Amino acid sequence: MTEDLKPWFPIRTERLLLRAFTQEDFDEVHAYAADPRVARFMDWGPNARAETVHFMSLKLAEQERWPRDGVTLAIEHLSDRKVIGSIRLAVGDRPNLTGDFGYSLNSTRWRQGYATEAGRAILDVAFGVVGLHRVWAECDIENVGSFGVMEKLGMRREGEIREGRLIKGQWRDRYLYAILAEEWAQQG
Ligand SMILES: CC(C)(COP(=O)(O)OP(=O)(O)OC[C@H]1O[C@@H](n2cnc3c(N)ncnc32)[C@H](O)[C@@H]1OP(=O)(O)O)[C@@H](O)C(=O)NCCC(=O)NCCS
Repeated sequence: MTEDLKPWFPIRTERLLLRAFTQEDFDEVHAYAADPRVARFMDWGPNARAETVHFMSLKLAEQERWPRDGVTLAIEHLSDRKVIGSIRLAVGDRPNLTGDFGYSLNSTRWRQGYATEAGRAILDVAFGVVGLHRVWAECDIENVGSFGVMEKLGMRREGEIREGRLIKGQWRDRYLYAILAEEWAQQG
């Protein structure tokens, strides 16, 4: 794996900048983390202020370390410089060159292709820079927005994980999606 040499971010896409968090991002992060629509399928939230304070302090501390296996980045909109969400890539299984990713966006920004745009940039890095062989992601079976993004990215639904996560007190079924390096390369 090659990413240990230097951090592979920030990444600029057509409309977005994927970059490390700063303390000044707090209000914009809290705006989406406190939104029940955003947190609906998550095992966290909707956040109270103190929970976002905790999240931000973990991220700011984590950002002091390099190399590291998990990277969570703020998604900044280039036109208004607002943080509209976050995206994470984690290399959970180094011997097998396997990682996973996930994303959240402010609900006022949904359905404009931003998660797909950020996800595409993360998969480019995961395969082209980090050198992964396989990237997977999971979502609640009712999270149409999330599996819509994965399908747009060309990921394949590999199966259903029964009661894989306890979400807001309920055991929830999950879809598992994945894509391999050679499949990503074929998409150009
Ligand atoms: C999941 C999430 C990040 C999607 O972000 P997004 O920027 O709206 O996604 P995109 O605009 O790139 O959508 C890609 C495709 O997914 C599908 N899709 C996205 N949102 C959808 C929705 N609300 N209903 C139905 N389909 C949806 C569509 O097919 C869409 O393509 P189209 O708009 O060209 O038809 C966003 O809904 C979100 O933040 N949800 C809350 C947090 C979350 O659940 N994260 C994932 C955890 S696994």
